[in-house]
Amino acid sequence: MPSVAIIDSGVGALSIYQEINKLLPNQQCIVVADNQAFPYGNKSQADLKNRVVSLARRVVDRYSPGLLVIACNTASTIALPALRDILNLPIVGVVPAIKPAAKLSQHKIIGILATPATIRRDYTDDLIEEFASDCEVIRVGSSRLVEIAEDKIAGAKIDLKEIELEVKAMLDVECLDVIVLSCTHFPLLNNEISDIFEANNHPITLIDSGSGVARRIRDLVENMALPGTGDDYDAVQDEAGHASFAVFTQSPDKSADYLRTLQNMGLCRVEVLD
Ligand code: DGL
Repeated sequence: MPSVAIIDSGVGALSIYQEINKLLPNQQCIVVADNQAFPYGNKSQADLKNRVVSLARRVVDRYSPGLLVIACNTASTIALPALRDILNLPIVGVVPAIKPAAKLSQHKIIGILATPATIRRDYTDDLIEEFASDCEVIRVGSSRLVEIAEDKIAGAKIDLKEIELEVKAMLDVECLDVIVLSCTHFPLLNNEISDIFEANNHPITLIDSGSGVARRIRDLVENMALPGTGDDYDAVQDEAGHASFAVFTQSPDKSADYLRTLQNMGLCRVEVLD
């Protein structure tokens, strides 16, 4: 049973892991948080591409996963072609879910909430042009929300007022009815963002790429493990057991709460990549 390595700068990998875990509860996942290079959103394109390519190579050398997920919009929107050139395994990226958002929007006004880097990417421009040319698109870049998501997983108390400030430019657009959470950290703040819109009597649908990515992984895993029948697949899964774990690129200087949260999510141990 091939393992699935899920790479992000931090807890964004957890939001993708949770979606994969929902569909494939027995799939071994290696959740890689590149805390040494956190945050990705403030790096130049060249630096980030080099970082992600070299980290992915280290992860593949060390753990030999069957599949790699770049669980980060900021990295996927620039590094996927380079990764696919040098690594010989299926690589799934996470990019803004603009196509379903445009379809879903009644008023044809959508928001894209991402890191400032993803907001500026040509890749994002191209997605908007291809799939949302009939929509007004409000783009908001926030580095602070990335930090707040990290703090939440670390057990810190979340200040809704602070989140409200970050999404204010969308809150103020009355008919904006769909927001694309285009950073993998942000689904971890889904409830808080929903509560803020609800408190302001602003109906909103939040969407992200997590469930689509998980379905793609399921298809790939089934094809890899399934030369024969569905029964073979179940047997292989059971044998592999539930042995997902977390990997950091430097010692995670984290609270016991943080490590407990990882454990509660089914990550049985924490390693530092050497
Ligand atoms: N989680 C990452 C994303 O999806 C970015 C977080 C960061 O800036 O490090 O874009």
